[in-house]
Formats: sequence, C-alpha cells, structure tokens
Amino acid sequence: MSPPMERARFLRQSRVLVVGGKGGVGKTTVTAALARMAADAGLDVLVLGLDDAGALPVLFGADVTFGYDEVPLYSGTAGRVRGRVITPDDALLEYLMDHGLRRVAKRLVSTGVLDVVSTAIPGIREILVLGKVKQLERLDTTDLLVLDAPATGHAVRFLTSANGLLDAARGGPLRTQAAEVVEMLHDPVRLQVLLVTVAEETPVNELVETAFRLEDEVGVMLGPVVVNACYLPAAGVGERWLADPEVLAAAAGEPPMRLGEASALRRAAGFRAGREAVQSEQLERLNAELPLPQLRLPFVFSDDIGPEQVAELAEAIGRAIEELDERQLQSALATTPASADAPAAGAPTSAPVPSAASAPFAAPEPPAAGAPPAAPEPPAASAPTAAPEPPAASAPPAAPEPPAATQPPAAAASP
Ligand SMILES: Nc1ncnc2c1ncn2[C@@H]1O[C@H](COP(=O)(O)OP(=O)(O)OP(=O)(O)O)[C@@H](O)[C@H]1O
Ligand SMILES: [Mg+2]
Repeated sequence: MSPPMERARFLRQSRVLVVGGKGGVGKTTVTAALARMAADAGLDVLVLGLDDAGALPVLFGADVTFGYDEVPLYSGTAGRVRGRVITPDDALLEYLMDHGLRRVAKRLVSTGVLDVVSTAIPGIREILVLGKVKQLERLDTTDLLVLDAPATGHAVRFLTSANGLLDAARGGPLRTQAAEVVEMLHDPVRLQVLLVTVAEETPVNELVETAFRLEDEVGVMLGPVVVNACYLPAAGVGERWLADPEVLAAAAGEPPMRLGEASALRRAAGFRAGREAVQSEQLERLNAELPLPQLRLPFVFSDDIGPEQVAELAEAIGRAIEELDERQLQSALATTPASADAPAAGAPTSAPVPSAASAPFAAPEPPAAGAPPAAPEPPAASAPTAAPEPPAASAPPAAPEPPAATQPPAAAASP
C-alpha cells in the first residue's frame, strides 16, 4: 500500500483526535502538524481550540480571526484544514437558542449565568464543550476533528466530567447530554486520545499516570504516544569530541582554532551528549512503563515554529506512522468500523503491543525520522580525516547547540 494511504487509514480510525499532555510539551504544535498531515493525506480536517486559538493561526501562517465560526487555515492539493474555537458560553448560547430560548439566551449568557450555574453543577462547562464536539462529530461534515486539549490536570477533568454528571443527574437534558458524551468517549471509532510528551522525567511520569487514569476513569481509547522534540543522534558527539576538539580539527586538516572555540565546542558537545543520554533513558522508561506505540518527532532547530516547521513535523509524523510495527498498526486499525465492537485496542493494559524486546521502540535511539534542518553534525570523532564537514576555522560549528539556545519546550514549561 502506498505511504499516503497508510497515513490516511491510520487517521481514519477515529473521527475525533484529542491531543492532550502536560503544559508546554507541544500539544498545539502537534495538533497543527497532525491536522496538516491529515490534510496532505487527503482528509478534510477541522481543528478545534478550546477557549482560544492559541498559536494555531500562526502555525498555519493564516491571517484569520479565529472564533466560534470556522475559518480556513490550510488548503493542500488533496485536503484542507479549517479551524474554530469552542467556548462553554458560546456552546450554552447555541444550546439555548436551539431549544427555543432564543429571546432570553443572549441576556442569560451575557449576565454570567454560566458562572453561577457552573458553581452549582461542576462539570457543566466541560459538558457544554464536549457536547458541542459530539454535535460536530455527529454532523459528519468533516473527515477528522483534531482537538487541542487543555493541559493534563484539566484534560483529565475535562474528560471525566461527563461520567461525573451522569452519576449526579437523574434525568433531563443534562443527563442526556452527559450520556451521549460518555458514549462518544467510549467509542474508539468516534474518538481517541493522543497524549504528547517530551523525553524528560517529569513529563514522562505525568504522561504514564494520565494514560492509566484516562483508561480507568474515562475508558477512552488511547492512540500512540507522541514523543515530541526528540534529539536525533548527532554523529561524532562522543568522548573524543568532548575531550579533543583541537586534535580532531587538526587531524581534519583545519587551521588552528580561535580563542575560546575549543571550549565552546566542548560545552556544546557535552550539552548535546547529556541531552541524548537523558532522552534515551526516558524513552526506554516510557517504553517499559506504557505499552503504547510511540510516534517520535524531531526537535526543530528554528527560532520560531511556523507553517514551514509544521510541514516538517507533519512529514515526520507521517513517516513515524508508516514506521509503526505492522502488529501495532493492526491493533490500532482493529477499531475500524468492521470490528468496532472489539475492545479498545490501544488501552494501556490491553494493547497487544510487542514486548519491549521485540518492539521497534525499544531501541534507545530514536528512529532517523528526518534530521532537524539546522543541526549540522560535527566531524565524526572516530574518523576525523573522513569528516565531510570539518569545523570551519572562521566560525565554530553550529551543532551541537549551546545550552541556552536549545532548551526543549518542556524544559521551560511550567511544572
Ligand atoms: N518539535 C519541536 N521542536 C522545537 N520546538 C518545539 C517543538 N514542538 C513545540 N515546540 C515549541 O515549544 C513551545 C511549546 O509548544 P506548544 O505551544 O505547542 O505547547 P503546548 O503543549 O500547546 O503548550 P500549552 O500547554 O501552553 O498550551 C513552543 O514555543 C513551540 O514552538
Ligand atoms: Mg497549547
């Protein structure tokens, strides 16, 4: 089967993809990349921001005002991406207007009735938003809805609220709404959650805990974990490079280094080697603790992330999907309508994922899923004379990056 078909097949498993994870790990960026990849694979995609659009318009390079109405974000040759925001107030207003309360609706909502009601009925805001998602999903006017979910703590509450309301409300429209939302959350053909993390200790811990909570408390299908901002192995960042940049440069026939150049290179190589070591350890741990396939995305070396970088990440997700082990792909695809009654195949405790020993993800190095553009490699430490790009005498090599310039997103993220 041709690669684009594989991507489209994978993306058509569920009509709604909820992209969740800890604050700052790249949920919005991954949402944009997934939507773009889906559009390039021929799907008609609607991206949903909660409360506000965040960076979504910037990520698509779209000069649009992102609100409750849909706006175009991207047009590919085969598919397109549109975007909109869902807020509880707008969802309530729409609900009241649809239920014959047009005249009072605007006044009620503008007087802040929702704030009063939501104190009395916890979970009402979440139900209004998820109810709207469910309505959009049922309308069936788009191939795929991608929801940029709130950061983890809120996301768990966001997704558990329907169960809570179902327990609390005896009857009436609220109960009906909650029941229909729960039905959607339990149906992998309709909705699945993709959790995003970076390969660092705290985000990985939080992701593992969230995955099990979502399975236990919501019973939602979990798709592959997206490990964002992975450092691809930089050839030559080895012990010799850390110790002897001058010797290696001389062996490569380069003129003597300028003052401070060797120590800058040593620091950069040390930083990069340290990052790679942490990453390998965390990827192995994630693999051991959570039996879900992983889609690894590269760290993008760029000052800003815009449409070009999103395209790069979209391609990387596509390739990572194609690299999924066939068994993992089959388990993910086991939720297609033909076998919709199968148990949630991606759930942490039930996923028929290969053992760590046989999983392609067990290797400590991430797969070469597309090198970050601005990460030139230092000369190979083991063969200095054969290095294609010896360090330039006039300027220190750009890679590995010095620490300050290369903090991955979560390093700066809130705890
Ligand atoms: N693969 C990547 N490579 C490099 N930088 C990245 C990558 N993914 C995201 N970033 C950067 O990390 C920062 C956080 O990303 P993003 O806003 O997507 O995270 P988020 O999880 O949506 O955050 P929040 O929880 O605040 O909504 C941004 O500055 C973004 O440009
Ligand atoms: Mg975000």
